[in-house]
Amino acid sequence: MSAPQIQAPRGTYDVLAQQASARVALEARARSILESAGYERIETPTFEATELFARGVGSSTDIVRKEMFSFEDAGGRALTLRPEGTAPVCRAFVEHGMHKRSKPVKLWYLSSFFRHERAQKGRYRQFWQVGAEALGSDDPAVDAESIALASSLLAEMGVRAVRLRLSSLGSPETRGAYREELKAHLRAHEDSLAPEVRERIEDNPLRAFDSADPATRSVMESAPKLLDRLDPDDGAHFAEVRALLTEARVDYEVDPTLVRGLDYYMRTVFEFTSDALGAQSGVGGGGRYDALVQELGGPPTPGMGWACGIERMLLAGEPPVAAPAPVELFVALEHHDEVTRRAAFGLLGEARRAGLAAQMELAGRSLKRQLSHADALGARYVVIVEQQQTVLKDMQAGQQTSLAADAVVHAVLRGQHAL
Ligand code: HAM
Repeated sequence: MSAPQIQAPRGTYDVLAQQASARVALEARARSILESAGYERIETPTFEATELFARGVGSSTDIVRKEMFSFEDAGGRALTLRPEGTAPVCRAFVEHGMHKRSKPVKLWYLSSFFRHERAQKGRYRQFWQVGAEALGSDDPAVDAESIALASSLLAEMGVRAVRLRLSSLGSPETRGAYREELKAHLRAHEDSLAPEVRERIEDNPLRAFDSADPATRSVMESAPKLLDRLDPDDGAHFAEVRALLTEARVDYEVDPTLVRGLDYYMRTVFEFTSDALGAQSGVGGGGRYDALVQELGGPPTPGMGWACGIERMLLAGEPPVAAPAPVELFVALEHHDEVTRRAAFGLLGEARRAGLAAQMELAGRSLKRQLSHADALGARYVVIVEQQQTVLKDMQAGQQTSLAADAVVHAVLRGQHAL
């Protein structure tokens, strides 16, 4: 009786060859776009102190309230698999004294994140993001550059039907006063609100803008809008971000109802959606978080950034077609005896040391089947190791020659150069 099968946990998936090469291509493009703009790669640990996210992302957010994979380690420390990358990058910024560097400090990452969400197409419990964070400047040009870079990445990945929604949340003070005004509006219309919105009036009234419930939506249409309450500085900052995006030819729609699921934002917020995705249309998003570094114990440091979901970019985009890895030399065995195997294995090592992409027969096939296997792999040359001699087959020319084993690698290299 065979043992029971074990499957990957719900909401996770395996990356197989074709997906893997699309990801490699995505990573290469992200690197080229971001590093050309002065972003440096950063990778933070997969798990962090739970406190980092409770404080950084905000204890009233869905992420912290119900989506974190948290656990206690053997030493009793409260740890959490990272649900997002901004708080960890800010933690690393403070920990490594990066505020002493010339500003802005620009960092990018490509990492996996974990959220205990209801799994469906485009929404996973382990997912991947490319993200970019610029720390140390509140210049509106940082916002516009950051958004323009995300827009370039989506364009280069062939993500179809992209919309950019943009808004400003103003300062925490403006937002605080506005929250009270909004709460009063919600309380005045409490009877028309969906239960989950009614429950959140006190701790997260802004979420009401996100509701799909028709009665709630009509209450929200007459709700006061934060954009109309911005103070002059924030209003001017937002106007400049918009002007710069127009200058950069990045199309956007101002959406005063835009709500982000993380608490650290202030001033600029934005989201990219793609109509090519189903219900999970958010392909990327971000904004400004000018108080986060300080909340995490660092010096006052403004920040701005975004993250795009890799699975969603691949779903809504045109993943690059992957060319299979070339096989320059396939080492075949006439017989599967020890002497032949050892000679073949020696030849394989020699070929690899010379830099050739080489593979060897490993499954005990007959010589005939080895040749068709090598053909299917697209091998350029096949060497057949026999007890008395070695035979080199040029698979393109269909010719073969008998030669000394130690001349094979040279012959392949020469043949390749002759091509
Ligand atoms: P976020 O909007 O929570 O922002 O996530 C960014 C992107 O990650 C989403 O637009 C989506 O494409 C992808 N994503 C999120 N959750 C899932 C999931 N469960 N499955 C698949 N994809 C998902 C942040 O995480 C912020 N840290 C972005 C940021 C950086 N803000 C400032 N700097």
